[in-house]
Amino acid sequence: MKRVAILISGGGSNMVKLVESMTGDHPARAVLVGSNDPAAAGLARAGALGVPTFAIDHRIYKGDRAAFEAALIEPLLAAQPDILCLAGFMRILTPDFVSRFQGRMLNIHPSLLPKYPGLHTHQRAIDAGDAEAGATVHLVTPELDAGPLLGQARVPVLPGDTSDSLAARVLVQEHRLYPQVLRRFAQGDLTPLHLSAA
Ligand code: GAR
Repeated sequence: MKRVAILISGGGSNMVKLVESMTGDHPARAVLVGSNDPAAAGLARAGALGVPTFAIDHRIYKGDRAAFEAALIEPLLAAQPDILCLAGFMRILTPDFVSRFQGRMLNIHPSLLPKYPGLHTHQRAIDAGDAEAGATVHLVTPELDAGPLLGQARVPVLPGDTSDSLAARVLVQEHRLYPQVLRRFAQGDLTPLHLSAA
């Protein structure tokens, strides 16, 4: 059985879908959920699902990324995860941290990478006049949002879409995509999965 730790920064809706998927014959189980924000709503949601949680408040470290990551990695290593999933974790991780989980750290990003790494992905897709938007699950490498693709889900951009309406449509697909990619990854299947809106 693979052990999965998950890092979040906010509401944690993707984390909930991942945790809920890891039951029965699933090859993995959620062992820990952590956040850089003690007030992240997702921590209570994880607790309600019976998953241990922790928070390391990045603000205490006042920009000292190495000290923040040293604190963050302690409970993570103690939980001995085989796989680390970033699910709406909004801190950039240093190459040092990434190297500790090389080849076993996944991230979900709300764009069709390689388009729109970074922030404001939905507005950028609308501004560019794209016909399609979506989400990507990829392996985390030191370069931001640039690791090997593990799965992508596409949705149409509709006339009149705002950043919020498009984000909501993409999020529905994130909730389908991430659990499926994690299951495949836990089984050793790294071939990219392609989903489109049902
Ligand atoms: C999701 O849309 C995820 O793709 C995005 O944050 C949201 C978190 O929602 N992640 C990033 O932008 C990472 N750069 P959630 O907390 O409800 O899962």
